[in-house]
Parts: sequence; structure tokens; C-alpha cells
Amino acid sequence: MQTEHATTHDALEDPRNADILIYVNGALKPRAEATVSVYDSGFLLGDGMWEGMRLYDGVWAFFEEHMDRFFDSCKAVGLDVGTDRQGIFEALEKTRLANGMVTDVHCRMMLTRGVKVRPFQHPSLSRSGPTLVIIMEHSKPVDRLASAGIRLATVPQVRGLPMSQDAKYNSHSKLNCVLACLQAEQAGADEALMLDPHGFVNTTNACNFFIVRRGEVWTSTGDYCMNGVTRQKVIDLCRADGIPVFEKNFSLFEVAGAEEAFLTGTFGAQTPVAAIDGKPVGDGSRPVTARIQALYKRALAEYVAAKQG
Ligand SMILES: Cc1ncc(COP(=O)(O)O)c(C=O)c1O
Repeated sequence: MQTEHATTHDALEDPRNADILIYVNGALKPRAEATVSVYDSGFLLGDGMWEGMRLYDGVWAFFEEHMDRFFDSCKAVGLDVGTDRQGIFEALEKTRLANGMVTDVHCRMMLTRGVKVRPFQHPSLSRSGPTLVIIMEHSKPVDRLASAGIRLATVPQVRGLPMSQDAKYNSHSKLNCVLACLQAEQAGADEALMLDPHGFVNTTNACNFFIVRRGEVWTSTGDYCMNGVTRQKVIDLCRADGIPVFEKNFSLFEVAGAEEAFLTGTFGAQTPVAAIDGKPVGDGSRPVTARIQALYKRALAEYVAAKQG
């Protein structure tokens, strides 16, 4: 029985992270000196976009997909990145090499609309160009989660319609997710299972959500959740390996009868779900999740090998 809270982003403590260098607009700063202005659009309003990426053997996993999402998001909100994907790659490499990092590294790359001339909302008040920050940490997901699984609670906070704040924006403003996370914590769970505006099961506050029913893999339609890079990889890998996979509406009724459930995200790849609202998921055996984990591991290794040339 688990007693303390776990999250899908729990990493092993690594003392090297006290001495990392952080990229702030081209400069590499020690952690304590890596700061942005209190007039920054990200701090004032959550007006910025970010990507979470992982490094394996010197290669940024699925870099192209991350850049597709990032540049699409920035374009959609009129945020001028100020460089192209090669420029972002070079900034990542500069940070990586300065830190002597090779593998088991997590990166949070953040771009905001930059410093404002006054502390108000209008985007035109950001006049000095965007702020680019890159934090890279030594990071290994804790093994405990991979075996014990995570506990979810369904929460009142829902994912909204795309015309309020489209869930596909990986924006600095994550209040919707944070509220859901707080509600899950109150319910004694590790992470929140969120519904869509129609009551169908959608996503968690930080990862995409899948169930396995009668040997089929189901995930939400994708209309109200983050267009996760790992989510798409899992769907593609299932299709290629002959595992029936469906993006469809389903309810908590069908979740209750699932044999397996797992979450996807760049950090934890596929994290099994142990229980939802206090009810154990299936009988605890996870053959389909294990098969998908193995497929993902192999696809990642192939990607890394191809990039290394
Ligand atoms: C709300 C949410 N869902 C899902 C994901 C997983 O996406 P990915 O697989 O691209 O890491 C993220 C990651 O940023 C997220 O913030």
C-alpha cells in the first residue's frame, strides 16, 4: 500500500542538479543567478509556450515532433520565436555541452513574449523580444512508479472547449491542470483524471490517458487534451504492431471495467495506473502495457541510433 504521494514526474534525487547551468537568453547562468524580470510576460500572465524533452545518448528524443508542436503553438498566439528550429537546437546543444550532459536528462525549454514595459496584459506591451530559458536536469524516473503504478482520482475540474483555452497549447499558464492536481491531492490520489465537457474521460493533469479493454487500447478522441508526442507514438506503434487502438469517447463506466490503464508523457514514457477512485485497475497484471513499453523502448533506441548515424 502506498502512503506518500507520487507524481508522474518524480525523479531520483541527483546532487549534480545543484550545480547546473541554465540558459537565459543566450547566457549560461548558475542556478541561483538564472532569473527573469518580474515584468516578464511569462511571470505576469503565463504568456509563453514550453516543451519538455528528454536526452538519450546525446540525442534529443523526437525533436522534430516537439518542434512541430512548439512552432505551431507560438504561431497560433503570435509569439515570434526569433529563431528557427536549428536555432533552438543550437541553444539546446549549447546548454547540454556546458553541463556535460549525455543521457537521462530532462529539459524544459520555455519561451515567453518577453519583458513588458508596463505590468498589464496587452501583448503589444512586450517590446524587447522573447525570453528563452532552458533548464536541463539530470533526471531518471523513479522505478517504484513503473511497478507500483500511479493512483488517480476523477476531479470536478474539466478540460475545456477549444474556444476557451485549447488544451493543445503547452502554455506557461497551467492553472486548469494545477486546479485538477489540487483536487486529486485532496482526494488522496497522486494525479487527476479529467473529463471533457461532455463527461467523457479525457486526460490527466500532466499526461495522456489510455485504457486496455478486452485487448483493445483506447484513448480519448484527442479533442480536449494535449496532443502528446508520446500519445501519438503509442498510437502509431500499436497500429504498426497489430494492437487494436481506438481514439474514441468512453466513460468512467468503461474505465471501471478496464483490464489495464496507463499514462503517457515524455518524462515517464508509459506509467501504469494502479487505481482510479480507490478501485484497483484490473487484476494488476499488465501484459499489453508491458508490450507497448517494449515497443516504445525499441522505437526510441532506433531513433537515437538513426540520429547518431
Ligand atoms: C497536460 C499534458 N498532457 C500530456 C502531456 C504529455 O505530452 P508529451 O507526450 O508530448 O510529453 C503533457 C506534457 O507536456 C502535458 O502538459
